Amino acid sequence: MKFLIILWTFYNAVSYADSLECLQCDNIEHPNTCNVTTECHSGQSCFLKTTQTSPTAQFEMGCEDNQLCGTGSPAVSIVGKRQTLACHECCSTNNCNNKLCEHSKPSACVDSVTVDCALLHSLFNVCSDVQHAKSVCPRFCGLCSLVDGDWATWGAWSGCDVTCESGTQVRIRTCTNPEPANGGVNCVGDSTQHKQCTKQLCPVHGGWSGWSGWSPCSATCDVGMSQRGRSCTNPKPSRAGDYCPDMPQQFKICTAGPCSTWMDWGSWTSCSVTCGVGLQRRYRNCTSTSSILGIGCVGSNDQTETCSNSTCVQVAFNAHGHQALSGSVITFPTVILNEGNAFNETSGLFTAPFSGNYFFSAQVCGQTRQNIFFNIKKSNTDMSTTYLTSAYGYDQGSYPCSPSSVVTKLHVGDHVWVYMSSGLGSLYDSGTNYWCSFTGSLLSVSG
Ligand SMILES: *[C@@H]1O[C@H](CO)[C@@H](O)[C@H](O)[C@H]1NC(C)=O
Ligand SMILES: *[C@@H]1O[C@H](CO)[C@@H](O)[C@H](O)[C@H]1NC(C)=O
Ligand SMILES: *[C@@H]1O[C@H](CO)[C@@H](O)[C@H](O)[C@H]1NC(C)=O
Ligand SMILES: *[C@@H]1O[C@H](CO)[C@@H](O)[C@H](O)[C@H]1NC(C)=O
Repeated sequence: MKFLIILWTFYNAVSYADSLECLQCDNIEHPNTCNVTTECHSGQSCFLKTTQTSPTAQFEMGCEDNQLCGTGSPAVSIVGKRQTLACHECCSTNNCNNKLCEHSKPSACVDSVTVDCALLHSLFNVCSDVQHAKSVCPRFCGLCSLVDGDWATWGAWSGCDVTCESGTQVRIRTCTNPEPANGGVNCVGDSTQHKQCTKQLCPVHGGWSGWSGWSPCSATCDVGMSQRGRSCTNPKPSRAGDYCPDMPQQFKICTAGPCSTWMDWGSWTSCSVTCGVGLQRRYRNCTSTSSILGIGCVGSNDQTETCSNSTCVQVAFNAHGHQALSGSVITFPTVILNEGNAFNETSGLFTAPFSGNYFFSAQVCGQTRQNIFFNIKKSNTDMSTTYLTSAYGYDQGSYPCSPSSVVTKLHVGDHVWVYMSSGLGSLYDSGTNYWCSFTGSLLSVSG
């Protein structure tokens, strides 16, 4: 036991020779009024000394070497020494100044008076169990600077994390009162807390319904507009929700038929020919409505078709042979061609079926050494005659033949014939080399 006390003293001298902080005042009337401290050197303690006794007591306080405790005149009383973490007296309790330690917070770093820490440690290695040692032998085990952590007070609740409906609030506390240090334990428990918060119902933003169908074109012809719509009802905005974005309507250009239309056809023009196949035309007009698109009437404004309301008349004849009639008319009884039946081989007369221009040609052959005179004559219906042409022939050794031809204008019903002015009885037609012939045709019909 004696050894332990020696050990303790040694330990104390070596490990706790921390510098002290002492009150330091001169000439104060009461020690309690001193509030100035000073840092002492190693091996010094705090002292209190009476410097004067009358008329009023005066005191002095400060640092003094441990060895001068109780010496000097007046005696310097060592009243205690105070370590930075603890107030620990080193001299007799009688002389200690209680106020000295009140100056700062007393430390818990005092070994239990009921145990002998050195003995405990030598027997049970008590210092290795820090959590026990810190409460029983903190000083002996060198645990005075150990600090167990403790919670600071809770921070304020955060704002609700939502703007509508149900959300959460949180608050935080930190392990800083004090912060654990030098092997002290951390705080136990949660550093955060949550709670539910409720705000008003969330807004409902609007949504579009589907598009309606396109409306009919606004124009009945040419260009117009067609539109379609939608409504902000899917859903309808409520509780200050946003209206649907963009337009509730769409437009597009639509085209109807052309505004111009054909009017009725005009009547057909007359046929381009009076006989045979010709052409005829008709026209129509387009209603002249102005058009944005420039669409006029579609199709042609005229029509053409063939026309044929009568076959063309053919008038042509060719006859030969001879027969003389009284009145000096020669007939040509052998008919080779008689289109239009205008030539009568019995009477020798050609009768014009149409008014127009005609061509006629005649040839007459006579006996040898006979004079031949003939004319082509015409007459109107009352037979008043006109000479159209004449011919003469004479041959000493052979049969004289003379031709004659003419173009003349006739009216319907006019007659044309060959007139033998002399030698009517001496005509000659062999049927082979010598021919008496009469031929003619219609050149053109006049209106
Ligand atoms: C210290 O004490 C003096 C005298 O009593 C006093 O005037 C002063 O306010 C005190 N200062 C502090 C910091 O307490
Ligand atoms: C077409 O219009 C013109 C001018 O107005 C008119 O002279 C003509 O007769 C019209 N034709 C028809 C077929 O309507
Ligand atoms: C033939 O057609 C023309 C014109 O189209 C007309 O003038 C004439 O009368 C018609 N003739 C007959 C016989 O139909
Ligand atoms: C032809 O002429 C004769 C004599 O003039 C007449 O009898 C006859 O009817 C005429 N023929 C025709 C088809 O006209």
